[in-house]
Formats: sequence, C-alpha cells, structure tokens
Amino acid sequence: MNIYKIAVIPGDGIGPEVMAEGVKVLEAIARKENKFAFEFTYFPWGCEYYLQHGTMMAEDGIEQLRGYDAILLGAVGFPGVPDHISLSGLLLKIRKSFDQYVNLRPIKLLKGAPCPLKDVRTEDIDMTFIRENSEGEYSGSGSWLYKDQDNEVVIQNAVFSRKGCERIMRYAYDIAKKEGKTLTSISKANALNYSMVFWDQMFKEVGKDYPEVITKSYLVDAASMFMVKDPSRFQVVVTSNLFGDILTDLGAAISGGMGLAAGANINPTRNAPSMFESIHGSAPDIAGKNIANPMATIVAVSQLLDFLGYADSAATILSSIETLLQEKKILTPDLGGSASTSEVGDSIVKLL
Ligand code: NAD
Ligand code: IPM
Ligand code: MN
Repeated sequence: MNIYKIAVIPGDGIGPEVMAEGVKVLEAIARKENKFAFEFTYFPWGCEYYLQHGTMMAEDGIEQLRGYDAILLGAVGFPGVPDHISLSGLLLKIRKSFDQYVNLRPIKLLKGAPCPLKDVRTEDIDMTFIRENSEGEYSGSGSWLYKDQDNEVVIQNAVFSRKGCERIMRYAYDIAKKEGKTLTSISKANALNYSMVFWDQMFKEVGKDYPEVITKSYLVDAASMFMVKDPSRFQVVVTSNLFGDILTDLGAAISGGMGLAAGANINPTRNAPSMFESIHGSAPDIAGKNIANPMATIVAVSQLLDFLGYADSAATILSSIETLLQEKKILTPDLGGSASTSEVGDSIVKLL
C-alpha cells in the first residue's frame, strides 16, 4: 500500500467548499482501489489568515510544504485583501518556490458538458495546454517610480530566458511526440519584438530534436479567434504564462465553463511538490452558498492521481463526472441544475 502525504490549502471563497468534495472523492477512490491511501494535512492559509497575521501563509510555509508528495489548492483571493498581495503571497509564491514551471491544463469537452459553440462535436475540443508557469509576463520584475507624482512611471518586465523557454517547449514537444499529436505554439512576435521573437526562435530550435512532431504557430489574437471558430485545430498547445492564463479561461468557457476546468502546476524533476487546482478563482459572488461546482476540483484530483501513476483511477473519476453530466440530474446551477456542491461530490462518490 502506497501512502501519500497531501498538503491541502482550501483557501478563500468557494475554495473550502469545492475542496471538501475533492478530498471526499480522493478518499473514495482510495477505498475502492485499495492499493494507495492518502494522509491529508490542512493549512489554514489565505485572506482570513492574512487579516489576522499580516502574511498569506506562515513565514516558513514553503518549508512546511516541501516534504509533501503533492499540494491541493482550493482558491485564493477575496475582497478586503488586494489581489496582487494575496496571490503573490500564496499561489504564485508556491508555483515559483517549487519551480512548478509547467501548468498543464486540459481543455477537453467532456461527454454531456454544455458547449456554447455551434456544430461542435465532443471530440472537436480536446486540447492540452502547456502554459509556461515560472517566468514571462509573471516574472514580477519591474518598478514604480515617482509614485503619485505627475511624472509617475511604472515598468512591468516580461522575462523570457533560454532555459525557461527550452524546458517548457521540450515538455510540450515530448507530450506531442508521445501522443502522436500536433503541437501549436502561441505567441505575438509581430508586436512584442524581443520576447516573442525569441519565443518563436526557441520553438523552432527545440523542434529540431522532434522532426516527427507536426507544428503550427499562431499569433495569440488569431489563436483566440480559432479557439472559438474552429477548436479542432488545437491539440497540444504551448504558450507563455499570461497568454496561457487568458486562453485557458476561454478554453474553459468552450468546454463546460469554469466549474469544470482544472490545471496541474508541475515540477517535472519531482525535487519539490507539484500542486493541483481548479482554474477558477474564489468566486466571491457565489461563496458560502454551497452552490459552486466542485467538478473542476475533482478533475484536479484526477490529475493528481495521474501524476502519482494511477492513470486508470484518474480515468475512472473523469468518467464518473461524465456520467453525472450526461444524466443531467445532479448538477450545480452553473450547469443548469439545482443541486448543491456537496450533492455533486456525494453523487460522484456513489458512482465510484
Ligand atoms: P472566478 O473564477 O473566481 O469567477 C468568475 C466567474 O465564474 C464568477 O461568476 C463565478 O461565480 C464563476 N465560477 C467560478 N468558479 C465556479 C464554480 N466552481 N462553480 C460555479 N461558478 C463558478 O474569477 P474572478 O471573479 O475574476 O476572481 C475572484 C477572485 O479569485 C479574485 O480574487 C481573483 O484574483 C482570484 N483568482 C484566484 C485563482 C486561483 O486561486 N487559482 C484563479 C483565478 C482568480
Ligand atoms: C490562474 C489564476 C492566477 C494566474 C491568478 C489568480 C494569479 O488566474 O491560475 O489562472 O493568473 O495564474
Ligand atoms: Mn486564470
């Protein structure tokens, strides 16, 4: 029996509500499979913690997390604490400290999930977004000069390193090669004359080692148009931190909504824990009502199982979600139903 130590950070808003269901499902799959188990440790970090302690996580929080096999994160951010403080003090801090440089976000239209596009078949939306997760537009480098004066200047630098580009592109090429899929790079070299010219150059350079992978390159504006007009063009996609952030919310919108979309923050070297989470935020507009859709967190839990080497268990969880989506009886309001967050979690447990 393999026992995994999981750090759970429920966080803010709907985070704790959806996380409770994710943990429920992990416990259920462990009981069913009877070959692995989980020990959960909860960390009360987030905006409430900040209001009490002045920091988003314990001072030695990163060291506390380091020994875990993986981290599950609910959501971070809540009115009352500025977003740039809450996110840089917890979510982004973990991604950077553990060098989780891959953000793997499947954009897949599950069977039974609603799609706002017309004439689209389930199999037409099946993308794997590989978002660079450690640098680029999120490097946090810049300055704020002459604050509140007439000559005020702010500078936000995007940082693209050879190492950073090469490792994310290799990761994406490896997946495309292994799965026999096309690889699309999304950039913006017509306007960003240093960073994205370099990105495109690196994409070609790394591609020399993968002659069998068919590649495409799109500008980000055209890519967002094609994701709506013709999503079947995209299979494996590699893109920068900010473009990946924006395009995966668009991807969520065409594949069932924010209530279904998840992502894995992966450190492929496994010398530090990886982190699994929904793509959505803390949804203050619906927090505390037990109506948030927990499916995104449950998809994240299936990504965690995949990462630990239990691909079959991961697939079982996804197919339970598909069953609920197809039956259309127990769904939260975002999917047109009237079920609660916990009813959806309980139903998935029952199906398992
Ligand atoms: P959001 O994703 O929280 O919400 C956008 C919309 O989607 C809202 O109408 C919300 O009700 C809906 N929604 C989101 N998740 C849902 C779910 N599971 N079920 C049903 N409906 C759902 O984005 P926002 O409103 O821009 O951000 C709110 C806060 O969350 C901000 O503080 C933001 O910085 C933060 N945020 C955190 C994360 C994260 O922790 N990973 C991600 C995005 C945003
Ligand atoms: C996401 C979120 C985060 C990001 C925010 C909350 C900093 O939007 O994970 O998609 O931009 O990476
Ligand atoms: Mn986002």
